[in-house]
Amino acid sequence: MVDWFDNTHRSLRRCFHPVAEIAQLEGHGPFEIELLGDSYALFRSGETWTVLVNQCPHRLAPLTTGGLEPGPGSRAGEMVIRCGYHGWCFDASGTCVEIPSSGDGPIPPTAHITPAAVVREAFGLIWVSLDDPVVPMPEVAEWDDPDFGLARLPVQEWAAGAAQVTDNFLDVAHFPFMHLGTIGDPDDRTVGDYTVSRDQWVFRAVHRHKAALIDGSGRIVDRTMEFECTAPHHLRLRLDYGEHGATVLLFFHQPVSAERTRLYIMDLSTSRAAGQGDPQQAIDFQMAVGAEDRVILEQFRHKGLPLTPGLETHVKADRITVEYRRVLNDLAALA
Ligand code: FES
Ligand SMILES: [Fe+2]
Repeated sequence: MVDWFDNTHRSLRRCFHPVAEIAQLEGHGPFEIELLGDSYALFRSGETWTVLVNQCPHRLAPLTTGGLEPGPGSRAGEMVIRCGYHGWCFDASGTCVEIPSSGDGPIPPTAHITPAAVVREAFGLIWVSLDDPVVPMPEVAEWDDPDFGLARLPVQEWAAGAAQVTDNFLDVAHFPFMHLGTIGDPDDRTVGDYTVSRDQWVFRAVHRHKAALIDGSGRIVDRTMEFECTAPHHLRLRLDYGEHGATVLLFFHQPVSAERTRLYIMDLSTSRAAGQGDPQQAIDFQMAVGAEDRVILEQFRHKGLPLTPGLETHVKADRITVEYRRVLNDLAALA
């Protein structure tokens, strides 16, 4: 039997995942989010975001059937969530603070909910680690660099696994086949030497090749790709075009369900920071590149990467994606 690393792999409970764009969240919530195949309630109490499994311990109704209200005796802005079915009330730590039908009676220990271990804001997104994280948050050296201007692609949802999507963005041999309409050069099929290095849950690769300029002109130039992948599904990809500037693409992936993944893609470019580029053009171009990947990824029968050795065939050009499989194997072994 083949063992798959897919969007419901239990090791993912110990990793950070993006779950929402902060700019899209109006008010305190509750907002329903989906992660690793389960539903969660996301809400804000004071300055703190909380994520609770979206299932009331009483009769398992979704907590998002109810709403937020100021907690009893709480400080300004502190909220509790009241289930819509029988009105049980939970604070931001998941503690059940009121069972209306019991009056002043006892609150059973099983009425409390264990919240997500860590919820934080970064890169304009809410990030969640359901259990204590073993993998650090991804880092982006250019994020606060004033030479780079930010453009966010519209959030997309693909019918593919997050590991598959990440694997595809790490892959350096598919450009002259999948991407003939955008970045692929049909005459640049052979993948040259590149280096791969690993530091625990982060690995890097540097690859030099030929590619079309990102301005859509179709001009082929020398390009250096620097990949920095943080387990399980996060990628910083720096593309250096020499005198034509640099672009850093960020790919952060939310494993929504066994079959679906949300993609938060950002484009940091030097040309735009210098006032030369059109952000919408960059967004349209990256969307067109992604559409070429999506067509093939959504046709895969299995929505994960195999952990069982021997199922795939690797060649020298695949060293980046082989390293990715090693990282996922190590992660899977922790669970
Ligand atoms: S199901 Fe939530 S209070 Fe009864
Ligand atoms: Fe691609």
